[in-house]
Amino acid sequence: MAKRDLISVLDVAEDLRGILDEARNLKSWLRSGRVHEALKSQSLAMIFEKPSTRTRVSFEVGMAQLGGTAINLNPQELQLGRGETLEDTARVLSGYAAAILYRAKRHEAMVRLAQAATVPVINGLDDLEHPCQIISDLFTIREAKGRLRGLKLAYVGDGNNVCNSLLLGCSLVGMDMAAACPPGFEPDAGILRKAEKIAMDQGSQIDLGADPEKAVRGTDVVYTDVWISMGMEGERGEREMAFRAYQVNEELLKSAGKEAVVMHCLPAHRGQEITDDVLDGDRSLVWDQAENRLHVQKALLIRLITGGFSTMEPTGTPI
Ligand code: CP
Ligand code: NVA
Repeated sequence: MAKRDLISVLDVAEDLRGILDEARNLKSWLRSGRVHEALKSQSLAMIFEKPSTRTRVSFEVGMAQLGGTAINLNPQELQLGRGETLEDTARVLSGYAAAILYRAKRHEAMVRLAQAATVPVINGLDDLEHPCQIISDLFTIREAKGRLRGLKLAYVGDGNNVCNSLLLGCSLVGMDMAAACPPGFEPDAGILRKAEKIAMDQGSQIDLGADPEKAVRGTDVVYTDVWISMGMEGERGEREMAFRAYQVNEELLKSAGKEAVVMHCLPAHRGQEITDDVLDGDRSLVWDQAENRLHVQKALLIRLITGGFSTMEPTGTPI
């Protein structure tokens, strides 16, 4: 069996529905106290070049719940920190672990690691994409709204890794997406082109603009993320100026659909991209969104490591 990496949301284009269904089963099995050791005695090596709460803990707990082990490797404590190459590290870790989770500063490093590893490499965020987050967010939207196709998501803020993966994720499942980003902070041009092409095939629409009020009009989901992503701290002053009109607050939500829900991948900078009342309010899905990382990560691990699903019967939940 050829190994499967998850570097981009597009890497699960073929089996996205199966992953979401598997995650739903895993969530209900966990709630009813059923043990499901699909990865008994398997190990996940995790390398984090940037901080993480949700990604690290959901993968670590997820592996434990599936009967396996996750090992967190601080790059500074690996020989990587003393100049051993990424390629040599990838080959060695492939001999110990069933998969490697990598949070990388640079996408190029993610690709190099994946090319050298002989086990699946999972992108736990890089500067181009955050696929695990967005696959999990599609699960959360489907859970809240009962479907995905035909819904509209409005993204307000920085055209960053999260926005890039949302463009691919929404277009893949036939959702419309409108992004409002300040000039100079648009999403990656190559990803935008790919998303527009996929959306055209799916009969959905991608709109990129700079007006948050216009983007959220009639939307089902309002999504935002930090103005200053990890590694961008040097641009703080410029970004705080550029993003001032890109806050998700009660005033902006008046233009969204009555049933619109609010999402944020977290961590949030309260009072910047989102206000306290919205984050903690009735429309906020953010805490379910964070919890669901666990269930979806487990489904992804099973899929990538074993190549199959443990789903019993298809349930017919619409995508
Ligand atoms: N949303 C997310 O990936 O959070 P962490 O940076 O805490 O992993
Ligand atoms: N865009 C954010 C996401 C954090 C989960 C960052 O890269 O810091």
